[in-house]
Amino acid sequence: MIVLGLSALYHDSACAVFRDGRLVAAAQEERFTRRRFDPAMPVRAVRACLRDAGLGIGDVDHVAYYEDPVGKLSRQLWMGLPAVPDASRRTLFRLDARRPARQIEELLGYPGPVTFVPHHESHAASAFHQSGFSDAALFTADAVGEWATTSYGTGGPNRFELFEQVDFPHSLGILYSAVTSFLGFAVNSDEYKVMGLAPYGTPRYADRLRGLLTDLPRGQFRLDQDCFDLSGRSPMYTAALGELLGAEPREPESALSAAHSDLAASVQLVLEDILLAKLRFLHAETGLGRLCYAGGVALNCVANRVIRERGPFAEVFVQPAAGDAGAAIGAAALVSARLGAGVRPERLTDVRLGPAPDLGPVAAWLAAAGVPFEAHTDDEAGLVGRAAEELAGGAVLGWFQGRMEFGPRALGARSILADPRRGDMRDHINALVKKREAFRPFAPAVVAERAGEFFGLAGDSPFMLFTADVREPAALPAVTHVDGSARVQTVDRAVDPRFHALLTAFGRRTGFPVLLNTSFNMRGEPIVATPADALACFVRSRLDVLVLGDLVVRAADLPAHWAGLVDQQLPYQLPTLDRDVYSFL
Ligand SMILES: [Fe+2]
Repeated sequence: MIVLGLSALYHDSACAVFRDGRLVAAAQEERFTRRRFDPAMPVRAVRACLRDAGLGIGDVDHVAYYEDPVGKLSRQLWMGLPAVPDASRRTLFRLDARRPARQIEELLGYPGPVTFVPHHESHAASAFHQSGFSDAALFTADAVGEWATTSYGTGGPNRFELFEQVDFPHSLGILYSAVTSFLGFAVNSDEYKVMGLAPYGTPRYADRLRGLLTDLPRGQFRLDQDCFDLSGRSPMYTAALGELLGAEPREPESALSAAHSDLAASVQLVLEDILLAKLRFLHAETGLGRLCYAGGVALNCVANRVIRERGPFAEVFVQPAAGDAGAAIGAAALVSARLGAGVRPERLTDVRLGPAPDLGPVAAWLAAAGVPFEAHTDDEAGLVGRAAEELAGGAVLGWFQGRMEFGPRALGARSILADPRRGDMRDHINALVKKREAFRPFAPAVVAERAGEFFGLAGDSPFMLFTADVREPAALPAVTHVDGSARVQTVDRAVDPRFHALLTAFGRRTGFPVLLNTSFNMRGEPIVATPADALACFVRSRLDVLVLGDLVVRAADLPAHWAGLVDQQLPYQLPTLDRDVYSFL
Protein backbone atom coordinates (compact mmCIF):
# COMPACT_ATOMS: atom_id res chain seq x y z
CA MET A 1 0.00 0.00 0.00
CA ILE A 2 1.68 3.20 -1.21
CA VAL A 3 0.22 6.49 -0.01
CA LEU A 4 1.68 9.78 -1.23
CA GLY A 5 1.14 12.78 1.07
CA LEU A 6 1.29 16.27 -0.43
CA SER A 7 1.40 19.80 0.88
CA ALA A 8 1.39 22.41 -1.85
CA LEU A 9 0.18 25.67 -3.35
CA TYR A 10 0.63 27.88 -0.32
CA HIS A 11 4.09 27.82 1.29
CA ASP A 12 6.96 25.31 1.51
CA SER A 13 5.42 22.49 -0.51
CA ALA A 14 6.53 18.95 0.17
CA CYS A 15 5.73 15.28 -0.22
CA ALA A 16 5.87 12.18 1.98
CA VAL A 17 5.76 8.53 0.90
CA PHE A 18 4.21 5.87 3.14
CA ARG A 19 4.73 2.22 2.27
CA ASP A 20 2.47 -0.19 4.20
CA GLY A 21 1.91 2.37 6.92
CA ARG A 22 5.56 3.32 7.37
CA LEU A 23 7.14 6.64 6.39
CA VAL A 24 9.92 5.85 3.90
CA ALA A 25 10.71 9.19 2.25
CA ALA A 26 9.89 12.90 2.47
CA ALA A 27 11.30 16.05 0.88
CA GLN A 28 10.54 19.71 0.26
CA GLU A 29 10.26 21.04 -3.27
CA GLU A 30 12.52 24.05 -2.54
CA ARG A 31 15.58 21.82 -2.30
CA PHE A 32 15.19 20.74 -5.93
CA THR A 33 14.00 23.98 -7.53
CA ARG A 34 16.43 26.06 -5.42
CA ARG A 35 13.59 28.49 -4.74
CA ARG A 36 13.20 29.01 -1.02
CA PHE A 37 9.77 27.99 0.37
CA ASP A 38 8.69 27.03 -3.16
CA PRO A 39 4.90 26.66 -3.02
CA ALA A 40 4.53 24.86 -6.39
CA MET A 41 3.06 21.36 -6.71
CA PRO A 42 6.13 19.33 -5.60
CA VAL A 43 6.77 17.58 -8.88
CA ARG A 44 10.52 17.20 -8.41
CA ALA A 45 10.33 16.17 -4.76
CA VAL A 46 7.72 13.52 -5.59
CA ARG A 47 9.81 12.14 -8.43
CA ALA A 48 12.96 12.03 -6.28
CA CYS A 49 11.27 10.43 -3.26
CA LEU A 50 9.45 7.80 -5.31
CA ARG A 51 12.60 6.95 -7.24
CA ASP A 52 14.53 6.63 -4.00
CA ALA A 53 11.94 4.15 -2.73
CA GLY A 54 12.17 2.19 -6.00
CA LEU A 55 8.73 3.39 -7.08
CA GLY A 56 7.05 5.36 -9.84
CA ILE A 57 3.86 7.42 -9.83
CA GLY A 58 2.02 4.36 -11.23
CA ASP A 59 2.72 2.52 -7.95
CA VAL A 60 0.88 5.08 -5.83
CA ASP A 61 -2.42 3.69 -4.50
CA HIS A 62 -3.72 6.86 -2.92
CA VAL A 63 -2.84 10.54 -2.65
CA ALA A 64 -3.46 12.37 0.64
CA TYR A 65 -3.58 16.18 0.34
CA TYR A 66 -2.86 18.36 3.37
CA GLU A 67 -5.98 20.55 3.32
CA ASP A 68 -9.55 20.72 2.10
CA PRO A 69 -9.61 23.18 -0.83
CA VAL A 70 -13.39 23.69 -0.62
CA GLY A 71 -13.22 24.54 3.08
CA LYS A 72 -10.34 26.88 2.35
CA LEU A 73 -12.27 28.54 -0.50
CA SER A 74 -15.15 29.42 1.80
CA ARG A 75 -12.74 31.25 4.10
CA GLN A 76 -10.92 32.85 1.16
CA LEU A 77 -14.20 34.21 -0.19
CA TRP A 78 -15.26 35.42 3.23
CA MET A 79 -12.03 37.36 3.69
CA GLY A 80 -11.03 38.20 0.14
CA LEU A 81 -14.04 38.93 -1.98
CA PRO A 82 -14.36 42.63 -1.24
CA ALA A 83 -10.80 43.19 -2.42
CA VAL A 84 -10.92 40.99 -5.51
CA PRO A 85 -12.01 43.56 -8.12
CA ASP A 86 -8.97 45.73 -7.59
CA ALA A 87 -5.51 45.11 -6.23
CA SER A 88 -6.00 41.43 -5.49
CA ARG A 89 -6.91 40.48 -9.04
CA ARG A 90 -3.53 38.85 -9.46
CA THR A 91 -4.40 36.44 -6.66
CA LEU A 92 -7.68 35.35 -8.25
CA PHE A 93 -6.14 32.08 -9.41
CA ARG A 94 -5.91 31.09 -5.77
CA LEU A 95 -9.70 31.05 -5.54
CA ASP A 96 -9.90 27.73 -7.35
CA ALA A 97 -10.77 24.71 -5.25
CA ARG A 98 -10.18 22.38 -8.20
CA ARG A 99 -6.57 23.48 -8.64
CA PRO A 100 -4.95 20.87 -6.34
CA ALA A 101 -6.84 17.95 -7.92
CA ARG A 102 -6.17 19.23 -11.42
CA GLN A 103 -2.46 19.69 -10.77
CA ILE A 104 -2.15 16.29 -9.09
CA GLU A 105 -3.53 14.75 -12.24
CA GLU A 106 -1.84 16.96 -14.81
CA LEU A 107 1.54 17.73 -13.26
CA LEU A 108 2.13 14.55 -11.27
CA GLY A 109 0.45 12.30 -13.84
CA TYR A 110 -1.63 10.61 -11.16
CA PRO A 111 -5.24 9.79 -12.08
CA GLY A 112 -6.25 7.80 -8.97
CA PRO A 113 -8.11 8.56 -5.73
CA VAL A 114 -7.24 11.67 -3.71
CA THR A 115 -8.33 12.31 -0.12
CA PHE A 116 -8.34 15.89 1.11
CA VAL A 117 -7.47 15.87 4.82
CA PRO A 118 -8.42 18.94 6.87
CA HIS A 119 -5.30 21.00 7.48
CA HIS A 120 -5.17 20.79 11.27
CA GLU A 121 -5.91 17.06 11.18
CA SER A 122 -2.85 16.79 8.93
CA HIS A 123 -0.74 18.76 11.42
CA ALA A 124 -2.04 16.79 14.43
CA ALA A 125 -1.52 13.42 12.72
CA SER A 126 2.00 14.43 11.67
CA ALA A 127 2.87 14.61 15.36
CA PHE A 128 0.74 11.76 16.73
CA HIS A 129 1.71 9.12 14.17
CA GLN A 130 5.41 9.88 14.59
CA SER A 131 5.41 10.22 18.38
CA GLY A 132 5.47 6.55 19.34
CA PHE A 133 2.81 7.33 21.98
CA SER A 134 -0.12 4.91 22.26
CA ASP A 135 -2.33 7.64 23.74
CA ALA A 136 -1.83 11.38 23.66
CA ALA A 137 -3.50 14.76 23.71
CA LEU A 138 -3.17 16.60 20.38
CA PHE A 139 -2.56 20.31 19.94
CA THR A 140 -1.96 22.36 16.79
CA ALA A 141 -1.37 26.06 16.23
CA ASP A 142 -0.49 27.93 13.04
CA ALA A 143 -1.63 31.05 11.16
CA VAL A 144 -4.63 29.38 9.50
CA GLY A 145 -5.65 26.24 7.63
CA GLU A 146 -9.13 26.19 6.11
CA TRP A 147 -10.77 27.98 9.05
CA ALA A 148 -9.00 26.46 12.03
CA THR A 149 -6.01 28.23 13.55
CA THR A 150 -5.73 26.18 16.75
CA SER A 151 -7.10 22.73 17.52
CA TYR A 152 -7.43 20.31 20.43
CA GLY A 153 -7.79 16.55 20.20
CA THR A 154 -6.94 13.06 21.36
CA GLY A 155 -5.26 10.13 19.69
CA GLY A 156 -5.22 6.46 20.68
CA PRO A 157 -4.89 2.97 19.22
CA ASN A 158 -8.15 3.29 17.29
CA ARG A 159 -8.94 6.89 17.88
CA PHE A 160 -8.00 10.17 16.29
CA GLU A 161 -10.28 13.09 17.01
CA LEU A 162 -10.04 16.86 17.10
CA PHE A 163 -12.81 17.94 19.46
CA GLU A 164 -12.42 21.72 19.54
CA GLN A 165 -10.99 24.35 17.21
CA VAL A 166 -10.44 28.09 17.19
CA ASP A 167 -11.38 29.66 13.86
CA PHE A 168 -9.85 32.37 11.69
CA PRO A 169 -9.19 35.27 12.12
CA HIS A 170 -8.46 34.48 15.76
CA SER A 171 -4.95 33.09 15.50
CA LEU A 172 -1.75 32.90 17.54
CA GLY A 173 0.24 32.55 14.33
CA ILE A 174 -1.31 35.73 12.94
CA LEU A 175 -0.58 37.67 16.14
CA TYR A 176 3.08 36.60 16.08
CA SER A 177 3.43 37.16 12.33
CA ALA A 178 1.86 40.62 12.50
CA VAL A 179 4.44 41.66 15.10
CA THR A 180 7.12 40.08 12.89
CA SER A 181 5.86 42.29 10.07
CA PHE A 182 5.74 45.36 12.36
CA LEU A 183 9.39 44.69 13.24
CA GLY A 184 10.34 44.85 9.55
CA PHE A 185 10.86 41.12 9.06
CA ALA A 186 9.25 38.84 6.47
CA VAL A 187 6.07 37.04 7.46
CA ASN A 188 6.03 33.24 7.17
CA SER A 189 9.79 33.05 7.23
CA ASP A 190 11.39 35.43 9.75
CA GLU A 191 9.36 34.68 12.88
CA TYR A 192 12.42 32.94 14.33
CA LYS A 193 14.30 36.26 14.12
CA VAL A 194 11.73 37.77 16.48
CA MET A 195 12.28 34.80 18.79
CA GLY A 196 16.05 35.38 18.58
CA LEU A 197 15.66 39.09 19.29
CA ALA A 198 13.39 38.56 22.30
CA PRO A 199 16.05 37.88 24.97
CA TYR A 200 17.65 41.27 24.26
CA GLY A 201 14.52 43.09 25.41
CA THR A 202 12.19 43.47 28.36
CA PRO A 203 8.52 42.67 27.74
CA ARG A 204 7.19 46.14 28.45
CA TYR A 205 4.56 45.91 25.68
CA ALA A 206 3.20 42.57 26.89
CA ASP A 207 0.14 43.97 28.65
CA ARG A 208 -0.85 46.00 25.60
CA LEU A 209 -0.49 42.99 23.31
CA ARG A 210 -2.34 40.81 25.80
CA GLY A 211 -5.19 43.31 25.62
CA LEU A 212 -5.72 42.23 21.99
CA LEU A 213 -6.66 38.74 23.17
CA THR A 214 -9.89 37.80 24.89
CA ASP A 215 -9.68 34.48 26.67
CA LEU A 216 -12.82 32.33 26.44
CA PRO A 217 -13.83 28.94 27.87
CA ARG A 218 -12.99 25.60 26.19
CA GLY A 219 -9.68 26.74 24.75
CA GLN A 220 -11.28 29.50 22.72
CA PHE A 221 -9.95 33.03 22.35
CA ARG A 222 -10.67 36.09 20.25
CA LEU A 223 -8.12 38.39 18.63
CA ASP A 224 -9.08 42.04 18.30
CA GLN A 225 -9.01 42.65 14.55
CA ASP A 226 -8.51 46.42 14.52
CA CYS A 227 -4.74 46.04 14.53
CA PHE A 228 -4.45 43.57 11.64
CA ASP A 229 -4.89 43.77 7.89
CA LEU A 230 -5.29 40.25 6.53
CA SER A 231 -6.38 41.25 3.05
CA GLY A 232 -3.06 40.17 1.61
CA ARG A 233 -1.79 43.69 1.05
CA SER A 234 1.34 44.75 2.85
CA PRO A 235 1.73 45.45 5.65
CA MET A 236 -0.05 42.91 7.80
CA TYR A 237 -0.85 45.41 10.58
CA THR A 238 -2.86 48.60 10.65
CA ALA A 239 -1.99 52.00 12.07
CA ALA A 240 -3.97 50.96 15.15
CA LEU A 241 -1.19 48.56 16.17
CA GLY A 242 1.35 51.37 16.22
CA GLU A 243 -1.07 53.55 18.20
CA LEU A 244 -1.76 50.77 20.69
CA LEU A 245 1.95 50.16 21.24
CA GLY A 246 3.01 53.78 21.04
CA ALA A 247 5.79 52.69 18.69
CA GLU A 248 6.80 53.13 15.07
CA PRO A 249 7.04 50.12 12.75
CA ARG A 250 10.60 49.30 11.74
CA GLU A 251 11.73 49.72 8.16
CA PRO A 252 13.13 46.42 6.82
CA GLU A 253 16.94 46.18 7.13
CA SER A 254 17.11 49.36 9.28
CA ALA A 255 18.87 49.46 12.64
CA LEU A 256 17.27 47.67 15.57
CA SER A 257 16.45 49.71 18.66
CA ALA A 258 15.76 48.75 22.26
CA ALA A 259 12.05 49.26 21.58
CA HIS A 260 12.21 46.62 18.84
CA SER A 261 13.82 44.12 21.20
CA ASP A 262 11.23 44.98 23.85
CA LEU A 263 8.41 44.34 21.40
CA ALA A 264 9.96 40.99 20.40
CA ALA A 265 10.27 40.05 24.07
CA SER A 266 6.64 41.04 24.61
CA VAL A 267 5.11 39.00 21.79
CA GLN A 268 7.24 36.00 22.78
CA LEU A 269 6.04 36.22 26.40
CA VAL A 270 2.40 36.66 25.39
CA LEU A 271 2.67 33.64 23.08
CA GLU A 272 4.21 31.48 25.81
CA ASP A 273 1.55 32.50 28.35
CA ILE A 274 -1.37 31.78 26.06
CA LEU A 275 0.10 28.45 24.94
CA LEU A 276 0.47 27.39 28.57
CA ALA A 277 -3.10 28.44 29.35
CA LYS A 278 -4.52 26.57 26.35
CA LEU A 279 -2.49 23.45 27.15
CA ARG A 280 -3.81 23.49 30.72
CA PHE A 281 -7.31 23.37 29.24
CA LEU A 282 -6.32 20.47 26.96
CA HIS A 283 -4.73 18.57 29.85
CA ALA A 284 -7.73 19.04 32.12
CA GLU A 285 -10.17 18.11 29.36
CA THR A 286 -8.40 14.93 28.25
CA GLY A 287 -6.72 13.75 31.45
CA LEU A 288 -3.84 12.49 29.29
CA GLY A 289 -0.19 12.77 30.32
CA ARG A 290 1.43 13.04 26.90
CA LEU A 291 1.22 15.77 24.30
CA CYS A 292 1.71 15.76 20.52
CA TYR A 293 2.18 19.20 19.04
CA ALA A 294 2.55 20.56 15.49
CA GLY A 295 1.71 23.58 13.30
CA GLY A 296 4.00 26.48 12.44
CA VAL A 297 3.87 27.91 15.98
CA ALA A 298 5.52 24.66 17.19
CA LEU A 299 8.76 25.74 15.47
CA ASN A 300 9.16 28.29 18.29
CA CYS A 301 11.75 26.32 20.27
CA VAL A 302 11.85 28.86 23.10
CA ALA A 303 8.10 28.40 23.69
CA ASN A 304 8.58 24.63 23.32
CA ARG A 305 11.01 24.69 26.22
CA VAL A 306 8.47 26.56 28.34
CA ILE A 307 5.81 23.99 27.40
CA ARG A 308 8.09 21.08 28.30
CA GLU A 309 9.40 22.57 31.55
CA ARG A 310 6.35 24.43 32.87
CA GLY A 311 3.40 22.91 30.99
CA PRO A 312 0.99 20.31 32.40
CA PHE A 313 2.16 17.36 30.27
CA ALA A 314 4.74 14.85 31.50
CA GLU A 315 5.97 14.11 27.97
CA VAL A 316 5.93 16.31 24.88
CA PHE A 317 6.57 15.29 21.28
CA VAL A 318 6.91 18.08 18.72
CA GLN A 319 6.85 17.13 15.04
CA PRO A 320 10.21 18.39 13.69
CA ALA A 321 8.64 19.47 10.39
CA ALA A 322 5.96 21.30 12.36
CA GLY A 323 5.19 23.76 9.55
CA ASP A 324 3.16 23.09 6.44
CA ALA A 325 5.77 20.83 4.82
CA GLY A 326 5.27 18.30 7.60
CA ALA A 327 1.51 18.30 7.11
CA ALA A 328 2.19 16.05 4.08
CA ILE A 329 3.35 13.39 6.56
CA GLY A 330 0.23 13.73 8.67
CA ALA A 331 -2.17 13.57 5.73
CA ALA A 332 -0.46 10.42 4.41
CA ALA A 333 -0.35 8.80 7.86
CA LEU A 334 -4.07 9.36 8.44
CA VAL A 335 -5.05 8.04 5.02
CA SER A 336 -2.73 5.03 5.41
CA ALA A 337 -4.38 4.23 8.74
CA ARG A 338 -7.88 4.60 7.31
CA LEU A 339 -7.04 2.34 4.38
CA GLY A 340 -6.02 -0.36 6.83
CA ALA A 341 -2.27 -0.09 6.30
CA GLY A 342 -1.83 -0.16 10.09
CA VAL A 343 0.37 2.87 10.81
CA ARG A 344 2.88 1.70 13.40
CA PRO A 345 3.26 3.68 16.61
CA GLU A 346 6.96 4.25 16.02
CA ARG A 347 8.85 7.18 17.47
CA LEU A 348 10.48 9.31 14.78
CA THR A 349 14.19 9.38 15.57
CA ASP A 350 15.67 10.37 12.22
CA VAL A 351 14.52 13.04 9.76
CA ARG A 352 17.01 12.09 7.07
CA LEU A 353 14.13 11.11 4.82
CA GLY A 354 15.17 12.77 1.55
CA PRO A 355 16.70 11.00 -1.40
CA ALA A 356 20.23 9.65 -1.01
CA PRO A 357 22.60 11.46 -3.38
CA ASP A 358 24.67 9.61 -5.91
CA LEU A 359 28.21 10.23 -4.71
CA GLY A 360 29.64 7.70 -7.18
CA PRO A 361 30.78 10.15 -9.87
CA VAL A 362 32.05 12.85 -7.50
CA ALA A 363 35.61 11.54 -7.21
CA ALA A 364 35.81 11.35 -11.01
CA TRP A 365 34.53 14.93 -11.38
CA LEU A 366 37.08 16.25 -8.94
CA ALA A 367 39.90 14.34 -10.57
CA ALA A 368 38.86 15.57 -14.03
CA ALA A 369 38.77 19.16 -12.72
CA GLY A 370 42.25 18.81 -11.25
CA VAL A 371 41.08 19.21 -7.65
CA PRO A 372 43.16 17.27 -5.13
CA PHE A 373 41.11 15.37 -2.53
CA GLU A 374 41.54 12.69 0.09
CA ALA A 375 39.38 9.56 -0.21
CA HIS A 376 38.67 7.80 3.08
CA THR A 377 36.72 4.88 1.65
CA ASP A 378 36.29 2.16 4.31
CA ASP A 379 38.32 4.32 6.70
CA GLU A 380 35.74 5.73 9.12
CA ALA A 381 38.26 6.61 11.82
CA GLY A 382 40.53 8.32 9.29
CA LEU A 383 37.66 10.38 7.88
CA VAL A 384 36.26 11.65 11.17
CA GLY A 385 39.76 12.08 12.60
CA ARG A 386 40.74 14.28 9.66
CA ALA A 387 37.55 16.34 9.87
CA ALA A 388 37.89 16.74 13.66
CA GLU A 389 41.49 17.87 13.28
CA GLU A 390 40.47 20.54 10.76
CA LEU A 391 37.63 21.74 13.03
CA ALA A 392 39.87 21.89 16.10
CA GLY A 393 42.32 23.92 14.00
CA GLY A 394 39.63 26.53 13.35
CA ALA A 395 38.36 25.39 9.92
CA VAL A 396 34.76 25.95 8.86
CA LEU A 397 33.57 22.70 7.35
CA GLY A 398 30.86 21.84 4.83
CA TRP A 399 29.54 18.43 5.88
CA PHE A 400 27.45 16.53 3.30
CA GLN A 401 26.39 12.98 4.18
CA GLY A 402 23.74 10.59 2.88
CA ARG A 403 20.02 11.28 2.80
CA MET A 404 18.85 14.88 3.13
CA GLU A 405 16.97 16.11 6.20
CA PHE A 406 13.23 16.78 5.99
CA GLY A 407 12.02 19.96 7.69
CA PRO A 408 13.63 23.31 8.36
CA ARG A 409 16.78 22.21 10.24
CA ALA A 410 20.12 20.83 9.08
CA LEU A 411 20.94 18.06 11.55
CA GLY A 412 24.21 16.66 10.30
CA ALA A 413 23.45 15.59 6.74
CA ARG A 414 23.68 19.03 5.06
CA SER A 415 25.47 21.09 7.72
CA ILE A 416 28.15 23.71 8.13
CA LEU A 417 30.19 22.80 11.20
CA ALA A 418 32.71 24.77 13.25
CA ASP A 419 34.41 25.01 16.64
CA PRO A 420 31.88 26.40 19.17
CA ARG A 421 34.61 27.47 21.61
CA ARG A 422 35.83 30.32 19.40
CA GLY A 423 34.28 33.67 20.24
CA ASP A 424 34.91 35.04 16.75
CA MET A 425 33.32 32.09 14.95
CA ARG A 426 29.84 33.59 14.77
CA ASP A 427 31.05 36.71 12.96
CA HIS A 428 33.38 34.64 10.79
CA ILE A 429 30.60 32.33 9.54
CA ASN A 430 28.27 35.27 9.05
CA ALA A 431 30.88 36.96 6.90
CA LEU A 432 31.51 33.83 4.85
CA VAL A 433 28.12 32.44 4.20
CA LYS A 434 25.19 33.39 6.36
CA LYS A 435 25.33 37.16 6.26
CA ARG A 436 22.63 37.18 8.84
CA GLU A 437 21.76 39.55 11.65
CA ALA A 438 24.45 39.63 14.31
CA PHE A 439 21.89 39.08 17.07
CA ARG A 440 20.95 35.61 15.89
CA PRO A 441 22.79 32.73 17.53
CA PHE A 442 24.08 29.54 15.95
CA ALA A 443 23.08 26.19 17.39
CA PRO A 444 25.20 23.41 18.93
CA ALA A 445 25.13 19.67 18.26
CA VAL A 446 26.31 17.46 21.13
CA VAL A 447 26.65 13.71 21.63
CA ALA A 448 23.43 12.68 23.38
CA GLU A 449 25.08 10.73 26.21
CA ARG A 450 27.08 13.77 27.37
CA ALA A 451 24.53 16.51 26.65
CA GLY A 452 23.85 16.98 30.38
CA GLU A 453 27.46 17.97 31.06
CA PHE A 454 27.17 20.99 28.81
CA PHE A 455 23.47 21.89 28.66
CA GLY A 456 20.62 21.96 31.18
CA LEU A 457 18.22 20.04 28.95
CA ALA A 458 14.96 18.61 30.30
CA GLY A 459 15.01 15.55 28.00
CA ASP A 460 16.51 14.85 24.60
CA SER A 461 16.38 17.25 21.65
CA PRO A 462 17.35 15.35 18.49
CA PHE A 463 15.70 17.88 16.18
CA MET A 464 16.80 21.25 17.68
CA LEU A 465 13.26 21.89 18.86
CA PHE A 466 14.06 22.96 22.43
CA THR A 467 16.39 25.52 23.93
CA ALA A 468 18.37 24.86 27.11
CA ASP A 469 20.74 26.71 29.43
CA VAL A 470 24.42 26.45 28.54
CA ARG A 471 26.22 25.32 31.71
CA GLU A 472 29.42 27.27 30.93
CA PRO A 473 28.53 30.03 28.46
CA ALA A 474 32.09 31.36 28.40
CA ALA A 475 33.34 27.97 27.17
CA LEU A 476 30.94 27.85 24.18
CA PRO A 477 30.57 31.48 23.10
CA ALA A 478 29.79 30.80 19.43
CA VAL A 479 26.61 28.85 20.24
CA THR A 480 25.41 30.65 23.38
CA HIS A 481 22.66 33.24 23.07
CA VAL A 482 22.63 36.50 25.02
CA ASP A 483 20.42 34.92 27.71
CA GLY A 484 22.82 32.00 28.18
CA SER A 485 20.68 29.53 26.25
CA ALA A 486 21.26 27.42 23.14
CA ARG A 487 19.04 25.59 20.67
CA VAL A 488 20.54 22.16 21.23
CA GLN A 489 20.66 19.10 18.97
CA THR A 490 21.42 15.85 20.78
CA VAL A 491 23.04 13.28 18.49
CA ASP A 492 22.45 9.61 19.17
CA ARG A 493 25.11 7.10 18.16
CA ALA A 494 22.52 4.60 16.90
CA VAL A 495 20.79 7.20 14.70
CA ASP A 496 23.75 8.90 13.02
CA PRO A 497 26.96 6.96 13.79
CA ARG A 498 29.21 9.08 11.55
CA PHE A 499 28.13 12.47 12.95
CA HIS A 500 28.32 11.02 16.45
CA ALA A 501 31.84 9.74 15.72
CA LEU A 502 32.87 13.18 14.44
CA LEU A 503 31.58 14.89 17.61
CA THR A 504 33.36 12.28 19.72
CA ALA A 505 36.62 12.73 17.80
CA PHE A 506 36.35 16.52 18.22
CA GLY A 507 35.68 15.96 21.94
CA ARG A 508 38.76 13.80 22.27
CA ARG A 509 40.89 16.65 20.94
CA THR A 510 39.21 19.53 22.75
CA GLY A 511 37.27 18.15 25.74
CA PHE A 512 34.00 19.30 24.14
CA PRO A 513 32.03 16.77 22.04
CA VAL A 514 30.07 19.76 20.77
CA LEU A 515 30.06 21.49 17.36
CA LEU A 516 28.45 24.60 15.98
CA ASN A 517 25.91 23.24 13.46
CA THR A 518 24.19 25.50 10.95
CA SER A 519 22.51 24.71 7.67
CA PHE A 520 24.62 24.26 4.54
CA ASN A 521 23.41 27.12 2.34
CA MET A 522 24.00 30.75 1.47
CA ARG A 523 21.66 33.36 2.93
CA GLY A 524 18.28 33.36 1.25
CA GLU A 525 18.84 30.00 -0.46
CA PRO A 526 17.44 26.58 0.41
CA ILE A 527 19.74 24.05 2.05
CA VAL A 528 21.96 22.27 -0.51
CA ALA A 529 20.49 19.07 -1.90
CA THR A 530 23.02 17.54 -4.28
CA PRO A 531 26.82 17.19 -4.34
CA ALA A 532 26.86 19.83 -7.10
CA ASP A 533 24.93 22.27 -4.86
CA ALA A 534 27.38 21.54 -2.06
CA LEU A 535 30.42 22.12 -4.25
CA ALA A 536 29.00 25.39 -5.59
CA CYS A 537 28.19 26.64 -2.09
CA PHE A 538 31.61 25.52 -0.84
CA VAL A 539 33.45 27.48 -3.51
CA ARG A 540 31.26 30.58 -3.40
CA SER A 541 31.26 30.87 0.36
CA ARG A 542 34.96 30.14 0.85
CA LEU A 543 34.44 27.46 3.47
CA ASP A 544 37.75 25.91 4.45
CA VAL A 545 36.98 22.24 3.99
CA LEU A 546 34.26 20.19 2.30
CA VAL A 547 33.53 16.64 3.38
CA LEU A 548 31.39 14.97 0.71
CA GLY A 549 30.62 11.45 1.84
CA ASP A 550 34.06 9.84 2.22
CA LEU A 551 35.93 12.58 0.34
CA VAL A 552 37.72 15.54 1.89
CA VAL A 553 38.43 18.63 -0.22
CA ARG A 554 40.37 21.61 1.15
CA ALA A 555 39.69 25.09 -0.23
CA ALA A 556 43.43 25.77 -0.20
CA ASP A 557 43.87 22.98 -2.76
CA LEU A 558 41.32 24.32 -5.25
CA PRO A 559 42.82 25.49 -8.54
CA ALA A 560 43.44 29.22 -8.30
CA HIS A 561 41.04 30.15 -11.10
CA TRP A 562 38.07 28.37 -9.50
CA ALA A 563 36.90 31.19 -7.27
CA GLY A 564 36.83 33.65 -10.15
CA LEU A 565 35.16 31.09 -12.40
CA VAL A 566 32.40 30.48 -9.90
CA ASP A 567 31.85 34.20 -9.41
CA GLN A 568 31.44 34.51 -13.16
CA GLN A 569 29.27 31.45 -13.68
CA LEU A 570 27.18 31.68 -10.54
CA PRO A 571 26.97 35.35 -9.62
CA TYR A 572 25.55 35.45 -6.16
CA GLN A 573 22.90 38.00 -5.38
CA LEU A 574 20.79 38.32 -2.31
CA PRO A 575 17.27 37.40 -3.37
CA THR A 576 14.72 40.13 -2.87
CA LEU A 577 12.12 39.15 -0.33
CA ASP A 578 8.61 38.67 -1.58
CA ARG A 579 6.68 40.59 1.01
CA ASP A 580 3.34 39.38 -0.30
CA VAL A 581 4.20 35.80 0.52
CA TYR A 582 2.00 35.89 3.61
CA SER A 583 -1.26 36.44 1.73
CA PHE A 584 -3.77 34.14 3.40
CA LEU A 585 -5.53 33.82 0.09
FE1 LIG B 1 -0.35 25.02 8.75
